[in-house]
Amino acid sequence: MRIASAFALSAFALSAFAATAEQWKSRSIYQIVTDRFALGNGTYPPCNTTDRKYCGGDWRGIINNLDYIQGMGFDAVWISPLSTQVNETGEGEPYHGYWTGDLFSLNKHFGDESDLKGLVSALHAREMYLMLDVNVNHMGSNSTPANVSWLLPFMNETNYHYQCSIDDWTDQWEVENCWLGDDNIQLPDINTENQTVVDMLNTWINQTVDTFNMDGLRIHAARHVRKDFWPAFTANASVFSLGESSRLSGLLPPSAAFTANASVFSLGEVNSNDIDYTADYTSVLDSLLDYPGYYRLQQAFSNANGDLQSLITSLRDTQRSYKMGAFASGAFMENHDQPRFQSLTKDQSLIKNAMAWIFATDAMPIVYYGQEQGFSGAQDPDNREALWLSGMKNAGLMYEHIAALNAARKLAARASDDEFHNTSVKVVSSSNGTAALVKPPMLALISNGGNTSAPEWSVLASDTGYEPDMTLVDVLSCEVVVTGDDGTVSTRSKDGLPLVLLPQTALAKSTLCGQPQSLSSTTNGVSERTAKVSWTLVASALAIVAFLSSSL
Ligand SMILES: *[C@@H]1O[C@H](CO)[C@@H](O)[C@H](O)[C@H]1NC(C)=O
Ligand SMILES: *[C@@H]1O[C@H](CO)[C@@H](O)[C@H](O)[C@H]1NC(C)=O
Ligand SMILES: *[C@@H]1O[C@H](CO)[C@@H](O)[C@H](O)[C@H]1NC(C)=O
Ligand SMILES: *[C@@H]1O[C@H](CO)[C@@H](O)[C@H](O)[C@H]1NC(C)=O
Ligand SMILES: *[C@@H]1O[C@H](CO)[C@@H](O)[C@H](O)[C@H]1NC(C)=O
Ligand SMILES: *[C@@H]1O[C@H](CO)[C@@H](O)[C@H](O)[C@H]1NC(C)=O
Ligand SMILES: *[C@@H]1O[C@H](CO)[C@@H](O)[C@H](O)[C@H]1NC(C)=O
Ligand SMILES: *[C@@H]1O[C@H](CO)[C@@H](O)[C@H](O)[C@H]1NC(C)=O
Ligand SMILES: *[C@@H]1O[C@H](CO)[C@@H](O)[C@H](O)[C@H]1NC(C)=O
Ligand SMILES: *[C@@H]1O[C@H](CO)[C@@H](O)[C@H](O)[C@H]1NC(C)=O
Ligand SMILES: *[C@@H]1O[C@H](CO)[C@@H](O)[C@H](O)[C@H]1NC(C)=O
Ligand SMILES: *[C@@H]1O[C@H](CO)[C@@H](O)[C@H](O)[C@H]1NC(C)=O
Repeated sequence: MRIASAFALSAFALSAFAATAEQWKSRSIYQIVTDRFALGNGTYPPCNTTDRKYCGGDWRGIINNLDYIQGMGFDAVWISPLSTQVNETGEGEPYHGYWTGDLFSLNKHFGDESDLKGLVSALHAREMYLMLDVNVNHMGSNSTPANVSWLLPFMNETNYHYQCSIDDWTDQWEVENCWLGDDNIQLPDINTENQTVVDMLNTWINQTVDTFNMDGLRIHAARHVRKDFWPAFTANASVFSLGESSRLSGLLPPSAAFTANASVFSLGEVNSNDIDYTADYTSVLDSLLDYPGYYRLQQAFSNANGDLQSLITSLRDTQRSYKMGAFASGAFMENHDQPRFQSLTKDQSLIKNAMAWIFATDAMPIVYYGQEQGFSGAQDPDNREALWLSGMKNAGLMYEHIAALNAARKLAARASDDEFHNTSVKVVSSSNGTAALVKPPMLALISNGGNTSAPEWSVLASDTGYEPDMTLVDVLSCEVVVTGDDGTVSTRSKDGLPLVLLPQTALAKSTLCGQPQSLSSTTNGVSERTAKVSWTLVASALAIVAFLSSSL
């Protein structure tokens, strides 16, 4: 009996992982539309995106394909909302998860409680995080006008805002109080001014994160809910349990104790290209999807010789105006609401540059599933293709490009004892169509002249900190660049391709670019493994202590 309870506690202590912004900022995120990623039963049914129907993807399908995701170097996965949805609507089935019918129950199409718990444990076993997409702005509806008496737990009209449509998007009252949706699908807007309703939503997130040990939240439609709703909501999914017990027991390292009482990490969706507008939300949420950067990234890279300068300016504005600088953002170039980049240009060099930009700045890089297979769907619903129809090969132009970019960030972090993730990127040289992004020890050379251009860069040692005659490796081509006798990097690329340079020493102990495993004389790998082992020991010890003290 006693041993059985100690074991249960140990599983709890190990998986109580809700993570903070500080823990998230070194991560890179793979975004999944759960219904469109993979089927747990290993079948590959057809999926006509135009039909807007469920295609069969589920949580087991994700569990079975974690090698595919980890093979690109991601250490976090963002999944679709998990609640039961309304039935078929005038705009198809809610396979995407944003049309809630019953908040507190799980969407059976994605699996059951044990499947979801299995996904979280499988991720944690790989030291990966799960980011849950949450929608508390609105419910779904399959009738016009909406009949809320079917919707749980908010069955009463007093639980919703009066219906109105957002006619003026600069009117914040309308943005927060009126309803999203259209004649085909009405989205009853939850009354987040009513305290009874608020308590219910806070209880839901508290239970959901606690039950499933979610590590972070992606907040759907964050700008459509009053700002001061968010702090208590995210605080209800706090990392309290792990931090507090570790502080009391003194068994966990100080870094874990430091997280006591912090809110679970939140990444908000505030779709606006105005940085002054979005910046305000960083006072109530940890971070935001980088929509201002996204719009400018599209202008810079969807055509050769687009506007690179305003992308650079928006990066600097973000660094200046967000609470945690640009670290408090998630950079992306496509998602379930925006056209895939391959639908905007066929120039693979421009696309590779845009992707390199995302991985070379301060933000957490986010890659939308299918990007690695060169998917090219344009607007919703075309951009929600079934990944299984691609064959899901762990190779190919974009798959390997992404893997190299993720590896470069990891190696840069390791070589700088994690300073990389605290150092704001500097754009030090930009002529028409080129930019050099310095984030020591990484130097990314970006251009947007397209696949027939031959851009050139010259970057001074006073900017990079590189030494004279230093050997650098471009992790994308594996070619070597040697600095000049004053440390300057002078180089050019062919076919308009980007370069991501790291000192050769930073590649030690990695297999990237064929570096032999044994080259390094550091003990980094060994101490990491030791740390992992002692973490497990400490966690089990903690569980036993907790068990003993609770049974006294
Ligand atoms: C997909 O569905 C749409 C609408 O139902 C239909 O017009 C189209 O022919 C279908 N495409 C395929 C490839 O079956
Ligand atoms: C696999 O799962 C899908 C979606 O749940 C289901 O429609 C299909 O019948 C299943 N196929 C097999 C062979 O189990
Ligand atoms: C959806 O359909 C099922 C079965 O037809 C029914 O039991 C359920 O109440 C419906 N739910 C909603 C929200 O309409
Ligand atoms: C909403 O649905 C309920 C339950 O089926 C029904 O009693 C009620 O009349 C409906 N309301 C409207 C306005 O259609
Ligand atoms: C909705 O709530 C109001 C106020 O609490 C109450 O008077 C009314 O009966 C409720 N309506 C339904 C359908 O439960
Ligand atoms: C708030 O919601 C509760 C619970 O549904 C309801 O009883 C109450 O009337 C609502 N208050 C207002 C001011 O609408
Ligand atoms: C959690 O939600 C409850 C219910 O709304 C609220 O009273 C409490 O203050 C929230 N917790 C935190 C830490 O904000
Ligand atoms: C979560 O809910 C539990 C149970 O109601 C409560 O004790 C706890 O304080 C809540 N957590 C936060 C951070 O509010
Ligand atoms: C965490 O918050 C709770 C409730 O607000 C408080 O009682 C406790 O002292 C806090 N613990 C730490 C370590 O700050
Ligand atoms: C080069 O770019 C052009 C469009 O400018 C495109 O048609 C062509 O396919 C691209 N080639 C490669 C290899 O990317
Ligand atoms: C990075 O900054 C955070 C927040 O200021 C700090 O807690 C952390 O120790 C820093 N990490 C390094 C490696 O300096
Ligand atoms: C940048 O270069 C392109 C062609 O290479 C040219 O069309 C454009 O006018 C230049 N812009 C500036 C500001 O010099």
